[in-house]
Amino acid sequence: MSESSNNTQLPENKSLKSESLKDESRRKLLTGTAYATAGVGLACAVLPFIDSMNPSKDVAALASTEVDISNIKAGETKKVMWRGKPVSIRRRTAEEIKEAQEVNLSELRDPQQDSDRVKAGKEEWLVTIEICTHLGCIPISGQGEFKGWFCPCHGSQYDTSARIRKGPAPKNLEIPPYEFVSDTLIKIG
Ligand code: FES
Repeated sequence: MSESSNNTQLPENKSLKSESLKDESRRKLLTGTAYATAGVGLACAVLPFIDSMNPSKDVAALASTEVDISNIKAGETKKVMWRGKPVSIRRRTAEEIKEAQEVNLSELRDPQQDSDRVKAGKEEWLVTIEICTHLGCIPISGQGEFKGWFCPCHGSQYDTSARIRKGPAPKNLEIPPYEFVSDTLIKIG
């Protein structure tokens, strides 16, 4: 009697189990779809935000500037603006390079080798930010006792490596970040 009762219940149980399994897989499918939709939505919401964090092309262009140096002769200085600052690119003569290299570091207020201020193999090029490190005047290139830069405001004098040699300025003229894109093109910034 009990056997016959069990036999009749078996198909029902199977059917219930099968329904339950179907429900479970439907639930998983719906949950998966919901997560996927939410993920796409989040990505759509976040991407413009991330994109807005990238600098615009205009800003990137201001951040760096490329300068053609092919027409600068030895002993000449080309001046450009970079991030609102005056930058000078001086093509030094052999004599200027020699003078800069032979200076004894103990004579310098802000000791720095000339080789630390130029690119190896490109010693004739000196790239500096032309802002006096005293109070920010614009020094004049090719002037002064040390034939480098002379600041007319309070008389600071820099040498041919733009290192401070005389006057109230405490530091050498700053060297901006730059690289040679080719022999005739440099990129500042
Ligand atoms: S600002 Fe150049 S010496 Fe004072």
